[in-house]
Order: sequence, then C-alpha cells, then structure tokens
Amino acid sequence: MTQDELKQKVAQAALKYIKDVPIIGVGTGSTVNHFIDYLADFRGQIEGAVSSSESSTQRLKKLGIPVLDLNAVGPLEVYIDGADEVNPQKHLIKGGGGALTREKIIAAASKTFVCIVDENKCVDILGAFPLPVEVVPMARSYVARELVKLGGQPVWRENYITDNHNEILDVHNLSILEPKKLEAIINNITGVVTVGIFAERPADIVLIGKGTEVVTL
Ligand code: 5RP
Repeated sequence: MTQDELKQKVAQAALKYIKDVPIIGVGTGSTVNHFIDYLADFRGQIEGAVSSSESSTQRLKKLGIPVLDLNAVGPLEVYIDGADEVNPQKHLIKGGGGALTREKIIAAASKTFVCIVDENKCVDILGAFPLPVEVVPMARSYVARELVKLGGQPVWRENYITDNHNEILDVHNLSILEPKKLEAIINNITGVVTVGIFAERPADIVLIGKGTEVVTL
C-alpha cells in the first residue's frame, strides 16, 4: 500500500469512534482530509464539526457539514486528528501543517483524542521530525535564540502565516527524551504561542495504518 492508501485506511478505521457522537472535533492534514471525506456519509446524522484550521473548515463546508464554534458547544466527545510523529507513550509531534495551536485547544477540550497515522509516523524517541513552534511574529528572533540554548536549530518557516496570524519556527536536531518537560519549558518562553509537543495532553487512542492492517495503540 502507498502511504496515502494507509492514510485513507486508518481514516476509515476512525469512523467507529464517531458512532452516536453529535459533534466531532476535526484536525488538519492529508490523513484527516480522508476522514472528512468519509464524514460526508454522516451528514444529517451529526450536528456538525469543530474544525482546527481554515483548510479543514473549507473542506467540511464544501461537503455540507456544519462547522461549529468551540465556544458554543462545550466539551467534545471525540477529536480525530493526525500527527507527524508518535511515540509508544502516545506523545505526539504535531504542526507540520501549521495548525498546532487550534489542534491543541481542541485536544484539550475533548474527552477522547483519536490519533490516526500511518506506520511511517511511529518512532521510539520524538524529534527526528522538526518540532514546530508557533510564535508571535515580533518575538521570532528572541524565541529562536532561546531554542538554540535548548540545543535545537530553529528554522523560520518563511512565507507562512498561521490561521492565528502568527509565524512558525521548525526546530531541528532535538532528541526529545522528556516530552512533558520540554513541552513545559518551550511553552514558557515569552512569545511562544504553542509548541507542537502533545505530551501533557497525549492521544488516548492511536490508530496506525500498518501494511494491510490497522493496529490500535
Ligand atoms: C497539522 C498536523 C497534522 O496532523 C500533521 O502534520 C500530519 O499531517 P498528515 O496527515 O498530512 O501527514 O499536525 O498541523
């Protein structure tokens, strides 16, 4: 199977977690795009979705799925989203698509976070994938210097503005041995909006597209 076929298969496997769920939290990325396409079959059965990005919002609306404001709906039963890396503790790196802040908010506001990935995303230690950090634009250089002190090599994602009108630094060469600790340290740097480590609120269930199977972690 190609990587995209694995993404499609794992997206389909997530459908069993949304049975009888009226409002679904929806992430961002190519894996979630497959999930959104499947969600079209649930039109009429669900009230709508809370979306983590403008791109997912557009795709949901195009398929006739109402997009709801998180503030108006309260805690969500289920959030479905992809990831850039997953470790055996279900800690994640997210933000390759730049939507990390809204993704982290929806994950925090959801009872169950189902993460859908293909096997290429599974690692023992997070950090081979450059760690995205969303920053307030005027703080970019300051935050970059602080990230260098932590041993990383931040690279500015040039010509990219997040949905929240901020910028992204992608931090290379970090070996993230203590994800919760590093998440707290980076979140504490003034000017950081969100770091793409999801360890304080990890995934609850990880579905992995592996060969012809979907494995549940
Ligand atoms: C977006 C994300 C995505 O979940 C992550 O980048 C995975 O994307 P894809 O499903 O395209 O591999 O965190 O901000």
